Amino acid sequence: MDLSDLIREPIKRIVPYSPGKDSEEAKREYGLEEIVKLASNENPLGPSPRAVEAMCAAASDVHLYPDPTWRELVLALSAKFDMPAETIVVGRGSDEIIHMAGLALLTPDSEVVFSDPPFALYPLTAAHLGCTAVAVPHKDLAHDLERIAAACTDKTRLVFLSNPYNPTGTIFKQGEVDAFLAGVPETAVVVLDEAYYEYVDNPEFPRSLEYVRQGRSVIVLRTFSKIYGLAGLRVGYGFAPPALTRGLKQACEPFNVSTLAQVAAVASLADDEQVRRSAQMVWDGKAYLYQEFERLGLEYIPTQSNFIFMDVGIHSRDCFEGLIRRGVTVRTGDIFGLPTWIRVTVGTPEQNQTFVAKLEEVLGVC
Ligand SMILES: Cc1ncc(COP(=O)(O)O)c(C=O)c1O
Repeated sequence: MDLSDLIREPIKRIVPYSPGKDSEEAKREYGLEEIVKLASNENPLGPSPRAVEAMCAAASDVHLYPDPTWRELVLALSAKFDMPAETIVVGRGSDEIIHMAGLALLTPDSEVVFSDPPFALYPLTAAHLGCTAVAVPHKDLAHDLERIAAACTDKTRLVFLSNPYNPTGTIFKQGEVDAFLAGVPETAVVVLDEAYYEYVDNPEFPRSLEYVRQGRSVIVLRTFSKIYGLAGLRVGYGFAPPALTRGLKQACEPFNVSTLAQVAAVASLADDEQVRRSAQMVWDGKAYLYQEFERLGLEYIPTQSNFIFMDVGIHSRDCFEGLIRRGVTVRTGDIFGLPTWIRVTVGTPEQNQTFVAKLEEVLGVC
């Protein structure tokens, strides 16, 4: 018997997630000592020292299962955002909360709506649950909220909107999301995925937690993977009206978030200085990179995030190859359907300078 016949059809059709070339692999392949990794929107300043200290202190307790209710972390989040504890859910990265939402809300005849290009987890969740994915083309590299609302039917159970939008870093504003929510049926739960929330400096960014307080049909997602520098631990959180968080928790595995991740997250929330410093580094880095891209005559999209989407004028795979040989990794735009664009994470000042210098070399030689 061919054992692969046992695998469910919707799962067989999934193209595995491609995180790009791993840094260690690239070092070996190209004989490099260092890689400047600007491909996954991580925080190069690393975690808060308080998080590291908290993990060291908790390390000798890892023979015990973690707290399945994430008590300390929920209390810390509740105090920080002034949100009732019952509106909070914690996941193994916000990825896991996206998956929990799928398990809790989707059946094979449901529809899931998102923008094209999407963040990879949205179509993956629809595929895991065997339901219909509806991808609405972007409009000028931003979400087309009018078309997304028009794409929602009585079968739509989830609408995923990353704000800022990954991969372009654009945002929709308070008035736009107010109008959007008014035009979407309540049976379509709108996931406002704010993984890059702390990097936003536009005062018109939506106050999305208000929708949760009002009991609207929304889930707001945030993460410790980006500005808090804890991507390797996998911990994210979400807010939703209690009727929804109850369902998400019912769909969640017990002991989903490790003890080290929980203590590091609690300690990180107390370190406002690490967040401020990291955001300032990105804001300064954006200003520097914009200036350099203008000098080089390269089109870019002004970002509200810690990454910039830019047109390099050559195939992004060629640009990627040229950069990786010189020790810099970025994300190619072809995976987003935009073959001459790349997405680059804003790094430290030194990393940004290296990126610009290597990019100039690559564009000069291609
Ligand atoms: C838009 C968006 N949502 C969610 C995530 C997932 O974050 P986490 O590491 O919390 O699972 C990412 C990570 O890149 C992202 O870009």
